[in-house]
Amino acid sequence: MGDFIVLLGPPGAGKGTQAQRLAQSLGMAHISSGDLFREHLKAQTELGKLAQSYMNRGELVPDDVTIAMVRERVGRPDCARGAILDGFPRTPAQAAALDEMLAELSGRVVSVPLIQVPAEVLIERLGGRWTCRAQGHVYHAKYNPPRVPGVCDIDGSELYQREDDLPATVARRIQVYLEQTAPLVDYYRQKGLLVEIDGTQPIEEVSARLLEAVEKARKAQS
Ligand code: AP5
Repeated sequence: MGDFIVLLGPPGAGKGTQAQRLAQSLGMAHISSGDLFREHLKAQTELGKLAQSYMNRGELVPDDVTIAMVRERVGRPDCARGAILDGFPRTPAQAAALDEMLAELSGRVVSVPLIQVPAEVLIERLGGRWTCRAQGHVYHAKYNPPRVPGVCDIDGSELYQREDDLPATVARRIQVYLEQTAPLVDYYRQKGLLVEIDGTQPIEEVSARLLEAVEKARKAQS
């Protein structure tokens, strides 16, 4: 049975940064719905073109296409032992669809860490974020700088600033999070899966707390 971990938190909370580290520590796949859309965009697929029009405005891509894309990804062999989900689910309909797809795959959600960071910190983080073109590795000009400016430490590819990190789009993304994704906090709290994590601490501290919380949850449910 695959154990799935859902990372919740507003844009810029550190979901992508932490998902990558957690996936490495636990030897699990990392699925980022935002990265999947950006890969489609790079490949100029129909889905990529559709997603771009929503992403550039800071709006959510419609549920039906998002769910179909994640369903296909979750069914791949590297998810047989579970995965870290980063950015999905983001609406109540997506959360219900996740429950259905995991039931079909004999998987389960074991823990839902909510990474909490106040809005003013989110804006500073996204304003200073640099992302790698090849694989989406994430840096910050001040808090997590690459060894060589503009170059990814891990794969040597070029770093760029995301179009949706412009201040007006960031403000809309935070508003969309509060309206459409925040209701999932109660959904998972009621299931006894929610764990609140202070995301304002340094990256290594947040990783340590997350790993502790996930291991505790997996042990309790084994
Ligand atoms: P997506 O790519 O998922 O963006 P997001 O959720 O807005 O999250 P971000 O990637 O912006 O932030 P993060 O929390 O991963 O933070 P990060 O680790 O990078 O989605 C983009 C768009 O795609 C959406 O707007 C929507 O249009 C569409 N989409 C995606 N999923 C969808 C879905 N399920 N349904 C519908 N539409 C969907 O960190 C941010 C910065 O802070 C970095 O620079 C990092 O180095 C730094 N940092 C991280 N942690 C710390 C720390 N502890 N201290 C200091 N700095 C830190």
